[in-house]
Amino acid sequence: MAGGKSRPRVAVTRRLPAPVEARMRDLFELRLNEDDRRLGRSELLALMQENDVLVPTLSDRIDADLLAGAGDRLKLIANYGAGIDHIDVAAARQRDIQVSNTPGVLTEDTADMTMALIIAVTRRLHEGFTVMQSGEWEGWSPTAFLGGRIGGRKLGILGMGRIGRAVARRAHAFGMEIHYHNRSRLRPETEAELHATWWDSLDQMLARTDVISVNVAHTPATFHLLSARRLRLLKPSAVVINTSRGEVIDENALTRMLRAGEIAGAGLDVYEHGHEANPRLRNLPNVVLLPHMGSATEEGRIEMGEKVILNIQTYANGHRPPDLVVPGTL
Ligand code: DGY
Repeated sequence: MAGGKSRPRVAVTRRLPAPVEARMRDLFELRLNEDDRRLGRSELLALMQENDVLVPTLSDRIDADLLAGAGDRLKLIANYGAGIDHIDVAAARQRDIQVSNTPGVLTEDTADMTMALIIAVTRRLHEGFTVMQSGEWEGWSPTAFLGGRIGGRKLGILGMGRIGRAVARRAHAFGMEIHYHNRSRLRPETEAELHATWWDSLDQMLARTDVISVNVAHTPATFHLLSARRLRLLKPSAVVINTSRGEVIDENALTRMLRAGEIAGAGLDVYEHGHEANPRLRNLPNVVLLPHMGSATEEGRIEMGEKVILNIQTYANGHRPPDLVVPGTL
């Protein structure tokens, strides 16, 4: 197919926004998952045997076993999403299958949601919302629903990539003090632009900040980076926000500490076991739970689709997809 004239056969595992599907229909021989059901392994495998390109999403686990069964014609996995921790990129490479993703276009939306969670937890929005929904509000009082002031709080950003930086810009505008831990330090001019202080030691940053925002990708190296031991370093008044991947935090340890009042609050958009959030996190007044909607804007989803299309077209024209994922770089 690469470099040839025929239209690539492309299988998409979930429904995408209508304009994206329409454009794909024009360009590719397209196979859609009409009823938008999560596909089982055998269904995914069939798609990987019959098509040139697979467009999966983060809910499709493409592991080495599935890749071993892929057909010879499968040459590109054009992921609809930025995170690629659900794909064994090294195993794909061994099978000569390229993997691309959609970085950049979800940055601002995810950073907005991170700020929304910081404010929601720190200013107790969930409790205010709940009392209004219940009809039990008894009127203003000087001591009701007191949260903490955002301005002046120390924000510790774990992972200063695109999204971490976008969070830093917003948080600075809210008057927060910006701290970060990253595997490599930013250039001095970027630190200055972001008003950000680097911590070589994650442990030390955790012990000194008021709000921790997880913005690091999930890789074997970041699994449970916020382990039970590290969570115990946090101040009891600290708040934990995660809009990246649940696996970065030991969710059971976090749940225990939130319930015991050893951590003041959490705002979570992602969970260690996909859509199965620990049920003991529910109904806690100091916890705001969202259904992985950090990047869920119509604009963002269309831009993700445009990126997927560009990656496929570039590949089909015999060139390197612009968002090719190189194993070990995320
Ligand atoms: C991604 O694209 O990986 C995001 O997590 C979706 O919100």
